[in-house]
Amino acid sequence: MLAKSKILIIDDEEVVLDSCTQVLAGADCVVATAGNGVQGLKLMEETTPDLVFLDLKMPGLSGFEVLGEIRGRHPDMVVIVITGYATVSSAVEAMKKGAFDFLPKPFTPEELRLIFRRGLEHHSLVQQTVALRREKEMLRENFAAIVSHELKAPLGAIQQNLYALTEDLADKLSDSQRDLFGRLKIRLDDLLKLIHSWLRIISVDVNQLKGTFSPLSVADVLSKAIETTQPHATRKAIEIQAIVGEPLPRVNGDEGSLTEVLVNIIGNAVKYSFPHSKIRVRVEAQGAQVLLSVADTGVGIAKDDLPFLFQDFVRGQAQPGGATGCGLGLAISRRIVEVHDGSITVESEPGKGSTFVICLPAVPPATESNPIPERKA
Ligand SMILES: Nc1ncnc2c1ncn2[C@@H]1O[C@H](COP(=O)(O)OP(=O)(O)OP(=O)(O)O)[C@@H](O)[C@H]1O
Ligand SMILES: [Mg+2]
Repeated sequence: MLAKSKILIIDDEEVVLDSCTQVLAGADCVVATAGNGVQGLKLMEETTPDLVFLDLKMPGLSGFEVLGEIRGRHPDMVVIVITGYATVSSAVEAMKKGAFDFLPKPFTPEELRLIFRRGLEHHSLVQQTVALRREKEMLRENFAAIVSHELKAPLGAIQQNLYALTEDLADKLSDSQRDLFGRLKIRLDDLLKLIHSWLRIISVDVNQLKGTFSPLSVADVLSKAIETTQPHATRKAIEIQAIVGEPLPRVNGDEGSLTEVLVNIIGNAVKYSFPHSKIRVRVEAQGAQVLLSVADTGVGIAKDDLPFLFQDFVRGQAQPGGATGCGLGLAISRRIVEVHDGSITVESEPGKGSTFVICLPAVPPATESNPIPERKA
């Protein structure tokens, strides 16, 4: 048997409460009534109604105040405001503040039934949306757990065994067999990296990350990121030049995640640059922000690719030989930067190079700087 719908009517006019109760009782629902805002809010907590009819003009706590309270406590609650003809403009105002609809006084039983049915339909849609959102969230979390446990562990074991096997067979392998083992290792590394990146995409949880924020020096973050990307740059004889402006205010953030962003961006600059070139990384204060730019003279990015570059699994057309990846680095980076209330943009010219700029809000007031000296790779 389907549960009856629960309706709450909040109105200071007894005649309105009585007539509405009569009409709605015939619509097979349970009706609770309150003669003022305070009582209405109390009843709302006790009965958790599907739909609330709320008079805007009441002595004491006004309808607007009650609406504000309801919105604050139950953002998905469907509220229909009841109002006189003279106050249609305030009804519109109430809708702007989150009411679903309004019912002008006086109204006929048929008008009440009609708006009641529409309100309930909307309530049902809202409930479905909430349930779907919850289901999606659970799927995401479960999936992350499945991927991490069911795929990462066996692949890690395969990788280890492969390394051991290559060492054991070192003297016995022909050149072509050694080459084959080498390619197997690369493919496995790529696969593990893909799983890692994918897990990052799923797990960059805005609320969790924000909980770990503290004021930090972008110069320190930059220093760590360069340390990580340096070996790759050295292999390609690429010079990474870092310039840190002074004074440099701190930014509020998560050090690990911001380092990951810079490793992605500088790592890309190295990956998509030609050997013996130079990458310029600059960090400086600009107004109330800290600006970080990474400029390379590499392959550049086609104009058609630019709008999609920060989306999941998107890779550009210009891929120099040996540049492997899964198109997730920039997507993860953008997510992290946005959690920090910052922005990330790119300008590029195919064949000439690209410049990525990250803007982060500075911690006010600009108190201290923590520069690292200009360094050359
Ligand atoms: N500095 C750069 N120069 C030229 N192209 C770039 C640069 N940075 C990014 N791109 C382009 O943007 C695409 C997306 O970059 P992203 O970092 O998201 O993925 P990826 O480097 O391909 O793989 P990974 O997930 O390993 O980072 C790249 O495939 C590349 O085409
Ligand atoms: Mg990348």
